[in-house]
Amino acid sequence: MQITLTVNGAAREVDIDPRTTLLDVMRHHLDLTGSKKGCDHGQCGACTMLVNGRRINGCLSLAVMHDGDEITTIEGLGDPGNLSPLQAAFVRNDGYQCGYCTPGQIMSAKGMYDEFNKGWPSHVSDDLTAEPNFSTAEIKERMSGNLCRCSAYPGICKAIEESAE
Ligand code: FES
Repeated sequence: MQITLTVNGAAREVDIDPRTTLLDVMRHHLDLTGSKKGCDHGQCGACTMLVNGRRINGCLSLAVMHDGDEITTIEGLGDPGNLSPLQAAFVRNDGYQCGYCTPGQIMSAKGMYDEFNKGWPSHVSDDLTAEPNFSTAEIKERMSGNLCRCSAYPGICKAIEESAE
């Protein structure tokens, strides 16, 4: 079936099997390979992207559910010559080791700040306040859906903390 998505600001039509995940549409139909497939079942966050401004795991969501939606992937943030502030903070703070989880980490951090800036409640935990202080502990909680198997967490947290300033 055919669906239309707005991906990183551009309208894209794709003809897909209805069982195709949003992650596979990005990677295999649109050649946007920045979003990574780690576990393929919602455990690692490597596939994190924004749908209408909210973070989701692309591996858990069928693309047909998103006909007409606006998708933002890591390719929509910046490019090597013009990094977004979050991307630049990850570079400055060594917020990665092998880099496989990095696109998901950055998209999740962007989603986290966007949720706050738009006044949306966190969908991570009811215990988080509506007025985040972005302490290290709070960033860890809000980023808890993104795993780094290299354990580059200190640099990741530092990059995200710096971006809040
Ligand atoms: Fe989607 Fe791991 S690949 S959460």
